[in-house]
Amino acid sequence: MATIDELQLQAKEAVEAADSLQTLNALRVEYLGKKGPVQALMKQMKDLPKEEKPAFGARVNELKQEISGWIDERRAVLEKAEEDRKILEEKIDITLPGRKHAHGNLNPLNLVRQELEDLFIGLGYQVEEGPDVVEDLYCFERANLPKDHPARAMQDSLYVDDEHLLRTHTTAIQMKVLEEMAPNPIKVICPGKVYRRDDDDATHSHQFTQMEGLVIGENVPLSDLKGTLEFVARKMFGQEREIRFRPSYFPFTEPSVEVDVSCHMCGGKGCPTCKGTGWIEILGAGEVHPHVLEMAGYDPTKMNGFAFGIGIERMAMLKYGIDDIRHFYTNDKRFNDLFDRFD
Ligand code: PHE
Repeated sequence: MATIDELQLQAKEAVEAADSLQTLNALRVEYLGKKGPVQALMKQMKDLPKEEKPAFGARVNELKQEISGWIDERRAVLEKAEEDRKILEEKIDITLPGRKHAHGNLNPLNLVRQELEDLFIGLGYQVEEGPDVVEDLYCFERANLPKDHPARAMQDSLYVDDEHLLRTHTTAIQMKVLEEMAPNPIKVICPGKVYRRDDDDATHSHQFTQMEGLVIGENVPLSDLKGTLEFVARKMFGQEREIRFRPSYFPFTEPSVEVDVSCHMCGGKGCPTCKGTGWIEILGAGEVHPHVLEMAGYDPTKMNGFAFGIGIERMAMLKYGIDDIRHFYTNDKRFNDLFDRFD
């Protein structure tokens, strides 16, 4: 009987130590299988004296039941553990970030254009647009640039025929508006694409975007132009910005000015962005020339006003620190993604 007790203890320990269902299956075969010790004990029965047989048989049977019971218990424990592990492993982590859907972004040119439009609409301006192909009359002649005027050479562009060309400046829209509105007051901005005979490099493009502004009324002072542009410059580049006027020349304005804004990168101290001067040129402007008013049908002794022309690429490059104008046109999604509204 000593060996049965030993076997019992050994089997119990082995089953309790089993850490997987495979081990447990192997133990069942090892202890209860045909070649196992329990079966061997059964076989010993026939050699025992007759009176010992019932007790021995009962003991071996009991052992067999016990081992089988332990294995079943252990199996239940291991199966439960396996299930718990799976549940834990398959848990859905609701804190994982969602999958992003691809979406388009506005090109920074359109962002700046919209921002400027919002500012001017807030100041009571209306938005006027026009076709890209315009008559020579509105692009040049009404702007005091007759056919032989040398200043045409700076802009001379793509002619469709003798009298039509791709507009070289949004001033062409301005001239049309003047004609349509004469002799009434005007307050408009005219955004749009313009085309020029120009080099294509980091700061020049044969096609770019402008926004013209035009205000006509009775006794419109040039200080209104300064106040308006100062307001816009501060909204676009920060409240501390100052602006200054420098004398310039445009055939359709008199006097004409070049408008500089104090550098938003260095605050005016001088840095590479402002080429050490503390000032950055942002646009051209001036009092609308009396002859231009006259040609459009205004009486320049009664009405006057100012006009300005903003380069949108230039504004966007300064505002966002873009170093090459060609980025705007190459349709590289990575560039537009830098201006993601949803990030
Ligand atoms: N049309 C001018 C240009 O393209 C800019 C400008 C517009 C200047 C209105 C004065 C007034 O350079």
